[in-house]
Amino acid sequence: MPDYQDILVTAPDSGVITITLNRPEARNALCNNLLREIAETLDSTINDDSIKAVVITGGEHVFAAGADIKEMAELDAVGVMNDIRPSYWRRIAQYPKPIIAAVNGFALGGGCELMMHCDIVIAGDNAQFGQPEINLGIIPGAGGTQRLLRTVGKSMAMQLVLSGEFINAEQARDFGLVSEITIPEMSYNRALKLAKNIARKPPLAVRLAKESLLKAYETTLETGLNLERKSFTLLAATEDRNEGIAAFMEKRRPDFRGK
Ligand code: CAA
Repeated sequence: MPDYQDILVTAPDSGVITITLNRPEARNALCNNLLREIAETLDSTINDDSIKAVVITGGEHVFAAGADIKEMAELDAVGVMNDIRPSYWRRIAQYPKPIIAAVNGFALGGGCELMMHCDIVIAGDNAQFGQPEINLGIIPGAGGTQRLLRTVGKSMAMQLVLSGEFINAEQARDFGLVSEITIPEMSYNRALKLAKNIARKPPLAVRLAKESLLKAYETTLETGLNLERKSFTLLAATEDRNEGIAAFMEKRRPDFRGK
């Protein structure tokens, strides 16, 4: 992995990489360069079959305090219109392998949106979530209004976006933003364990499962069911499906090859 300025990229276990947001002096605010480095790291692993899952964390104290407000202040409307950031967000959103977030402390604005780009979220019990853009005279700009509403429903999405108030980890779990809560020191370990577990699963099935689940956000039930059925059918043609079934019959561990 190349040396990055605003993130750390490590490979803590075979099959998994960890991206750690690394701007502690700015509460991990998502400056352009940081976002670019995340997008480039993800892109560089898409065709690397040895990498099967990604963990994103901000460390034990803060996940991310949102877009870098100092950078944002430099842009007028035309600057925002020509901003490169939406292309970084798109690359993160389209990443085909599972991304697990370990979130401690604040996940605000773009930080909450980055978290919502992840597939599974483990939160420390010190986590706080919010979309405080309203306090800056703007609205969420990286999918916050759309992904929040689809996840937490209308009333809570309106509450967060219109008031700028924060919710804690338990509320976030109750509303489906987060799947598990741990103590802050354990959220990364739990996310990594989950990533390692997923890394052992048949990669083609993992990929199509993620695609199918995400499609449910944006399509009709009928279209989603059709996609699910086609993916289910496609997997019947894979060696891993034969291996999974054979291993079950022979009472042994499957050896999945991604074929
Ligand atoms: N952008 C740039 N710098 C930030 C920042 C941000 N989003 N958040 C914090 N920082 C900087 C502060 O300016 C400060 O820098 P200096 O030491 O140079 O003054 C440093 O980080 C520490 O910040 P605080 O002293 O404020 O730390 P705190 O622990 O007291 O408070 C906080 C933490 C509650 C996160 C607070 O910093 C805060 O409210 N930050 C802004 C949150 C916000 O409004 N996010 C939305 C941004 S807009 C957005 O995200 C748009 C989008 O959807 C695309």
